[in-house]
Amino acid sequence: MTDIVLQNAAEQIENLLKAGEGKNIPKVKEFFDPETYTYSYIVHDDATKCAAIIDSVLDYDPASGRTSFYSADKIINYVQQQGLEIKWLLETHAHADHLSAAPYLQEKLGGKIAIGEHIVAVQHVFGNLFNAGTEFRRDGSDFDHLFADGDTFKIGNLDVMVMHVPGHTPACIAYIIGDAIFIGDTMFMPDYGSARADFPGGDARQLYKSMRRILSLPPESRLFMCHDYLPEGRSEYKWQTTISEQRKGNIHAHDGISEDEFVEMRTERDKMLNMPRLILPSIQVNMRAGHLPPKEDNGVRYLKIPLDAV
Ligand SMILES: [Fe+2]
Repeated sequence: MTDIVLQNAAEQIENLLKAGEGKNIPKVKEFFDPETYTYSYIVHDDATKCAAIIDSVLDYDPASGRTSFYSADKIINYVQQQGLEIKWLLETHAHADHLSAAPYLQEKLGGKIAIGEHIVAVQHVFGNLFNAGTEFRRDGSDFDHLFADGDTFKIGNLDVMVMHVPGHTPACIAYIIGDAIFIGDTMFMPDYGSARADFPGGDARQLYKSMRRILSLPPESRLFMCHDYLPEGRSEYKWQTTISEQRKGNIHAHDGISEDEFVEMRTERDKMLNMPRLILPSIQVNMRAGHLPPKEDNGVRYLKIPLDAV
């Protein structure tokens, strides 16, 4: 199944690039949140104005517990200016560093909230960690749609293919939209390397395999990052690269690095990383597709902080 999907994806992109008519070349607009170093995207088909929003951010101040909509409203403004029709609110995975604004954007713009089908495993792990009540069903039904490896769909005239790329989390997926690939937290820019693989269900060996799958797609494909952390030696944030640049220069995953070398590097590096600042707020919201926990009987919503459990 996996090899067939990969072959289909490679062929699909190859054909699109050969066609060269621009019909399957999406317009991509990036939005950067400097608080969490996250890139969100609007991808649209110029012919039909149909669009998807990928990995949106709900602003959250942990000191006051206040949510706000500065980042999401920038997306809404762009959608309105361009006259776009939002069909999908896509998540590459359950993020551990920012809250998703998908429900807010859905209320304002419409569209279906979707993620990879293995989110169910993530919901079980974190539903238990946060001791969520039975209202949290852990069956993926908080999302409007769950994608499996190899699923295809359309955004207007654009062809989209889904690729399961586990490793950073078990549920990570990449969206191949025409020649543009949204890879979530698998790889980062070539000078920053790869994502951590030490979250529950993460696996450095799987991450290596997922990266190689992505890197075997056509070399001209555009790759869009979910984060940039401005590594030493660079003064400007970047969000876009290509397969060929990653194969040549990714410091963790360029051609020639073996699976064992990668796993050893990744495992050592992960031991030195701190937990992301917003991991506890993020996962208990994102496991619910970005919906906040239900109100308690005083009308207030609460986030939980498990002590000595993570
Ligand atoms: Fe992530």
